[in-house]
Amino acid sequence: MTASSPQALHLIARPAGEPKDSDFELRPVPVRELAEGEARVRVSHVSIDPAMRIWMTEQKSYWPPVALGEVMRAAGYGQVVESRNARLPVGTWLSGMTGITEMLYTDGRGLRPVGSGEAPDPARILHLFGATGLTAYFGLKEIGQPKAGETVVVSAAAGAVGSTVVQLAKAWGCRVVGIAGGPAKCAQLIEEFGADAAVDYKAGEVGRALSTACPEGIDVYFDNVGGDILDAVLKRLRMHARVVVCGGISQYNATSAPKGIVNHLALISARARMEGFVVIDYLQRAEEAIAAMAPLVASGRLKGKIDVLEGIARFPEALRRVLSGGNVGKQVLALG
Ligand SMILES: NC(=O)c1ccc[n+]([C@@H]2O[C@H](COP(=O)([O-])OP(=O)(O)OC[C@H]3O[C@@H](n4cnc5c(N)ncnc54)[C@H](OP(=O)(O)O)[C@@H]3O)[C@@H](O)[C@H]2O)c1
Repeated sequence: MTASSPQALHLIARPAGEPKDSDFELRPVPVRELAEGEARVRVSHVSIDPAMRIWMTEQKSYWPPVALGEVMRAAGYGQVVESRNARLPVGTWLSGMTGITEMLYTDGRGLRPVGSGEAPDPARILHLFGATGLTAYFGLKEIGQPKAGETVVVSAAAGAVGSTVVQLAKAWGCRVVGIAGGPAKCAQLIEEFGADAAVDYKAGEVGRALSTACPEGIDVYFDNVGGDILDAVLKRLRMHARVVVCGGISQYNATSAPKGIVNHLALISARARMEGFVVIDYLQRAEEAIAAMAPLVASGRLKGKIDVLEGIARFPEALRRVLSGGNVGKQVLALG
């Protein structure tokens, strides 16, 4: 394989605990002639998502596991560099589930054209106007149903989905409390994303800190982490509260049975609702979310911070960053 040969990253072992470099292997993408109807796409950027850790297990989820030996599944975008498909002219940028590969052969199915010429902005296409932004928008609006004046609490609040939820809830007139790890991320929540208060879960005593930050209780909890933080929130729900179950990252590297919640009976006395959702169910409504968020982005009230690592070989490191809180904003991997 020469230095310029395109490569793809394959899953070769199911990680136990934190994913290791040896769970993956870079293999050359066989270079071949295009068949009629095909295009060759140079993949430029891929999104690094916590859910990838679940796709690497045998666990049943909304998508099947990635099989051992397969190219690792990922959302991304790239540009057509050669084509035998009139609908995919050279220069077209395509977005969708590209996988972690520098080169993709495609007939265009499952990929969406997103312009030609100038490269798309990863902060928009993979973050605010991509699956991350749609997750935040529809999870908060449809499941959380926040009303102006209510208290919204968000976990992993300095991350990609979380920081978008914080800013949307503020824009919709709520009082917002973000939970994040460490003083730097907590300061960022208030100073950059406009949260009213921040709770550093790594400082301990999350329950007490939540009581101080939310003296009237919690109307909406947007949960990205599960585990002990979810339990601490459940004890502080207001009447008719809504708990949006978006993710449970505190459990994704678990090597024993995931930690269940113990305070679920608090849902009874609060007449509260706890509901999960998956963003793919809302993809057909993407334009609605983008139209609602675009003016906030244009006015600077909705910021999309991204954290870019370069090089396909750094995928395991990028995933570990997301799973351990090393990322500052939406984690993206630039390929090739
Ligand atoms: N339901 C859906 O359709 C859907 C779609 C997309 C994403 N999600 C979920 O949304 C969540 C956020 O995803 P994202 O892409 O925006 O990632 P992200 O928030 O940018 O990155 C993950 C963050 O989780 C925090 N974290 C890691 N381990 C933790 C722990 N043990 N306890 C508390 N926080 C921890 C870290 O922040 P700290 O430094 O603050 O610890 C880390 O930065 C994930 O659970 C993901 O699975 C769900």
